[in-house]
Amino acid sequence: MSTTDRTRPFVRPYRPADRAAVYDVCVRTADAGGDARGIYRDPDLMPDIFAGPYLHLAPHLAFVLDDGRRAVGYVLGVADTAAFAEAFRREWLPRVADRYPRAAVPDTPDERMIELLHTPERMVLPELADHPAHLHIDILPEHQRAGHGRTLIHTLLAALRREGVPRVHLGMVTANTAARRFYDRLGFHELPVPDPGPLTYLGRSTEIAGTP
Ligand SMILES: CC(C)(COP(=O)(O)OP(=O)(O)OC[C@H]1O[C@@H](n2cnc3c(N)ncnc32)[C@H](O)[C@@H]1OP(=O)(O)O)[C@@H](O)C(=O)NCCC(=O)NCCS
Repeated sequence: MSTTDRTRPFVRPYRPADRAAVYDVCVRTADAGGDARGIYRDPDLMPDIFAGPYLHLAPHLAFVLDDGRRAVGYVLGVADTAAFAEAFRREWLPRVADRYPRAAVPDTPDERMIELLHTPERMVLPELADHPAHLHIDILPEHQRAGHGRTLIHTLLAALRREGVPRVHLGMVTANTAARRFYDRLGFHELPVPDPGPLTYLGRSTEIAGTP
């Protein structure tokens, strides 16, 4: 059977040819899980913050859900959030900064998001230090609720485990209650962070029951 004959989507490692599809999935799921197209002036803004740097700096920890034609979902991870924030500033920001100039006083949705791009150190919080890895996961609506999110998370957990990373965290928009139910089912628990703003932080071990 060739890959184009497959009907059931499958998880595989990311490859550079997936980049545009990953960007597309990102923008279609970036408004607290819903479609963010039309919200920001530049459709690449959200992916340039929440997908591009992961693909660029840690492609070996990126996995996609492939429907036989293209990537329709992904999980993106980094093993060490503090090292990632440094590399984000040093290697990623110079590639995109000109496209997204910073506002003196961020006010509009675009400006507030651009401010996040320019401040990668915001990701490094002492309360998360013992959960050094972090992740992002998104799947197009037509492929949600079919078990692929669980497969993607377990694929990343296994990859992190192989790198010796004991625990992983994520920051999610608190209003995304559907995602919260998913993470609860996947064994994530809340990590208390002072002044978390619109986010909730969750974490769990990279150990998967029944595997070494
Ligand atoms: C959140 C998301 C990654 C979950 O992936 P998924 O493939 O839909 O989830 P799965 O089918 O693997 O579900 C795994 C478990 O979570 C539960 N679950 C998933 N979504 C749920 C929901 N909205 N409400 C209740 N339970 C849910 C499933 O019922 C399943 O439970 P089980 O243990 O009984 O089998 C996916 O829906 C998505 O990409 N949503 C839009 C983008 C988004 O919100 N990303 C997260 C940003 S923080």
